[in-house]
Amino acid sequence: MNPWRNTETLNALSELFITAVNYRDPTAREHAQRVRGLAMELAQRVTPVLPVRMAVIGWGALVHDVGKIAISDEVLNKDKALTNGEWAMMRSHAELGYRLIAPLETWPEILSAVRNHHENYDGTGYPDKLKGKRIPFIARLLRIVDTFEALTAFRNYREVHTYARADAIHVMQDQAGYYDPELFEAFVAMIKADS
Ligand SMILES: [Fe+2]
Repeated sequence: MNPWRNTETLNALSELFITAVNYRDPTAREHAQRVRGLAMELAQRVTPVLPVRMAVIGWGALVHDVGKIAISDEVLNKDKALTNGEWAMMRSHAELGYRLIAPLETWPEILSAVRNHHENYDGTGYPDKLKGKRIPFIARLLRIVDTFEALTAFRNYREVHTYARADAIHVMQDQAGYYDPELFEAFVAMIKADS
């Protein structure tokens, strides 16, 4: 069997990647773990997924931002607004992360999680400007839970606004074109049920 699809390997690899990203951005581990929990909970709500698929969603969620290893400190941890050039550099983390893990021949969903978690449902995202259901399921899941987690997370060393859960949902409803409507509806119901 391909070792890069093996549970022990992927547990170790995702832990290694998270530790590496966390050296660069100390909020990364907590963020990735919360994103993983939300992604798996949402996936369970919308589709009867097999255990192997659920594990793949978990690994994909954990490593989705691995490309941030390659982003400079000035950009990654800047506490002021980014310039256009800095945004372009920040956005490159999706493709750089993909290039890092693509040679491993792991589950394709993990590669999609890394490459496509910033694709918007309306086609305005990056890096491939995929639209609608052409965006892989795992990336559509992550687009929602990653944003929600970033909006609600408390980051005391950064000048970012932290929203309460209900307020974060309102912010996201204003950008609803970014999210798969069915998944987003299920996500809102999930958050309301959890609150
Ligand atoms: Fe990202």
